[in-house]
Amino acid sequence: MNVTIYGSGYVGLVTGACLAQVGNHVLCVDIDQAKTERLRRGQIPIFEPGLEDMVLENAKAGRLAFTADPAEGVEHGLFQFIAVGTPPDEDGSADLQHVLAVARSIGEHMHSYKIIVDKSTVPVGTADRVRETASTALAARGATEDFDVVSNPEFLKEGDAIGDFMRPARIIVGTDNERSAELLRALYAPFNRNHDRLIHMDVRSAELTKYAANAMLATKISFMNELAGLAERLGADIEQVRVGIGSDPRIGYHFIYPGAGYGGSCFPKDVKALERTARGVGYSTPVLSAVEEVNARQKQVLFEKISAHYGDDLSGRRFALWGLAFKPNTDDMREAPARTLMEALWAKGAQVQAFDPEAADEARRIYGDRPDLVLCDSPEAALEGADALVVVTEWNQFRSPDFERIRNTLKDPLIFDGRNLYDPDFLTQQGITYYAIGRGIASRD
Ligand SMILES: NC(=O)c1ccc[n+]([C@@H]2O[C@H](COP(=O)([O-])OP(=O)(O)OC[C@H]3O[C@@H](n4cnc5c(N)ncnc54)[C@H](O)[C@@H]3O)[C@@H](O)[C@H]2O)c1
Repeated sequence: MNVTIYGSGYVGLVTGACLAQVGNHVLCVDIDQAKTERLRRGQIPIFEPGLEDMVLENAKAGRLAFTADPAEGVEHGLFQFIAVGTPPDEDGSADLQHVLAVARSIGEHMHSYKIIVDKSTVPVGTADRVRETASTALAARGATEDFDVVSNPEFLKEGDAIGDFMRPARIIVGTDNERSAELLRALYAPFNRNHDRLIHMDVRSAELTKYAANAMLATKISFMNELAGLAERLGADIEQVRVGIGSDPRIGYHFIYPGAGYGGSCFPKDVKALERTARGVGYSTPVLSAVEEVNARQKQVLFEKISAHYGDDLSGRRFALWGLAFKPNTDDMREAPARTLMEALWAKGAQVQAFDPEAADEARRIYGDRPDLVLCDSPEAALEGADALVVVTEWNQFRSPDFERIRNTLKDPLIFDGRNLYDPDFLTQQGITYYAIGRGIASRD
């Protein structure tokens, strides 16, 4: 089948590569001309495991192409996937300008039946606005082509996006008509072989399902972070509590890790947008407000531990930071806890020596050259001349480091661990002072 995908970011590029991988002819449209040029030359603008090989292989096979020309995109695909960004507006609501710009352009250029598939995360009611926008553009040129609008939210996780797309836990298809539902079922058939994972529902419910999923996951994280703060103050160990509650099948072990707060391009903006949607219909959502409030507080916790140890004035101090990306296996630093921490450290005069396996370029892009940020080539290099180590992202390579080397390199044998990667007793034996999240037991003696 012929598929057009607008937006060559994390979602659009993964969707395009995976749909091409199973034999479809995919054209990716992005208004960022420089990005499109790079993709044409085989340069992948983001880091996502397995993506580069898949893009190159399918481009070479002639099943995946890139353009900045929307008219070409509209002409190409029966399916017109919208996977552009929906960043937060000033008031927290989702900014739909990019989604609606695509809808308008489809209306302006279409000459045959199209299925417009909303893959971006968009508030309830957006499919109606997409339909209106495309209809208005069609009417403006006196055209009457038929089209359908489907909500097909994306649930992939950065870091494991290809696995999630190829073997989805569910495929949500929100549409009020059978024709487009059946065509989407056919498009997704290669990813739906083991058992039927396609859930067909009405459009508004599909739109809400995406926000509900992210809000639930964010709630689990904030709940555990709140309990971690309590455990710390009560002399309990949240890691033991985590294992204790996770054993209940009604709770489960997934997504109950305490940490340095959630970040990324989705949870923060989606929780805010859902809250904003609720306010728009006169309904209060105290759980969502608390989830956000707890997360904002949690993103300060590492800094608070550092200033509790060193005092308020950090001028002349240097901190080794392991991890910049908001989570492992991505280079994405949107809303990353590392940003909150670095900015707080800089505001108090400290310097940062950071290492991240993939996000250094992104950090350079965000912060530019500044004297208080040194981007290092290895975890060990980040330790050189530093006062203490702060672990912010749980990349695998940080899980079992050479503690002796850490102790001997740092000025103070001190680790602030925002991900609870290490055994407090073992670190004490190693002569390292260890501050973790919610591990009151570590500081009980
Ligand atoms: N990143 C994730 O893990 C994830 C997961 C599920 C859902 N989502 C949702 O998917 C959507 C896209 O997210 P992303 O992380 O891929 O965004 P992104 O910022 O990585 O990419 C968006 C791309 O869209 C392009 N774009 C903007 N306007 C355009 C237009 N009119 N025509 C063509 N291209 C245009 C931009 O240049 C950019 O390359 C968002 O709504 C997001 O909430 C993201």
